[in-house]
Amino acid sequence: MEASAPAKAILFGEHAVVYGKPAIAVSLDRRMTIIVKPGKESRVDGGRLTVRKHRYVRWVMENLWDGPPLEFRTRSDIPSASGLGSSAALCSSVVSALSYLKGPGGEETNARNSFEVEYNVQGGASPTDTSCSTHGHGILVSFEPGEGLLWSISKKNRTWYIHHIDPPGLTMVVGYTKKPSITPVQVEKVRSYYDRSGFARETIEEIGELVFDALAAMKKGDTVELGALMDSNHSLLSILGVSSRELNKLRDAASPYSYGAKMTGAGGGGSIIALTDRPEDVCRAIKKRGGVPYIVSRSTRGAEVRVTDEERFVNFNKENTGEKG
Ligand code: PMV
Repeated sequence: MEASAPAKAILFGEHAVVYGKPAIAVSLDRRMTIIVKPGKESRVDGGRLTVRKHRYVRWVMENLWDGPPLEFRTRSDIPSASGLGSSAALCSSVVSALSYLKGPGGEETNARNSFEVEYNVQGGASPTDTSCSTHGHGILVSFEPGEGLLWSISKKNRTWYIHHIDPPGLTMVVGYTKKPSITPVQVEKVRSYYDRSGFARETIEEIGELVFDALAAMKKGDTVELGALMDSNHSLLSILGVSSRELNKLRDAASPYSYGAKMTGAGGGGSIIALTDRPEDVCRAIKKRGGVPYIVSRSTRGAEVRVTDEERFVNFNKENTGEKG
């Protein structure tokens, strides 16, 4: 069988979401695809499952799977460590595939389990990326339930409410710095700043408020306002120390041709995202400053599973038990 899940971009609220503030993420038209078949031992892309190389798949196999060994092949057009949620798309596609093997899997359960994988492997995460990748469309993550509620996810006295949103069909350009963004490192950096500085805590509050303004601008379809809010969000993230020279360089390159531009995801390295109606100009400017541009648009497709060999699938199901937990 084959399972796939989309990349995501956080448009507003990254990092603050770790502290219970809202965030808006959209899924993108780039996907991670995995092909799953029974095997003599569990393997990923021809290699044995190792802790170092296959942390996510290994966690899934050890904690959510009771059945026989499986072989995975992965294919992705999401640049890894780029801030576009390639690890969440991997979690979401593997979890969706295994839950389908057990029986028809529900989107909510898959989102929950995908979050567990990312949370445990990374040692902390919000459910933003995994819920967005599982659901598709756009999502608002907030600390209280509201219109369009899909599900809630709790961890350590914190509950995130995940809502469906349908962002307008925006044209965006992602500019990848070619420098990896290491999420746990960046999250830890903010954590230590947050713990010792009232200014950092205020900055997080401000990001939280800005996200509600962005939601209102999205509902009105006010692209100019959305762009201005992206710029402000970038400045606040810079204050938290999670932007970088490379990210600022690409953001500055994109700005003259954009409604707004900001880093997206954990930062440090990774990518910027620009809202624009001049995507070609933005791409040129990003390339000129050494970045890798991708024109993207939001996708409505979430995680999907497709049986490619019906007979083998039926036999497998007859012979095996399914998922743990
Ligand atoms: O760069 P990504 O896709 O791992 O996004 C991280 C977003 C953070 O808010 C920094 C962390 C999180 O888990 O929400």
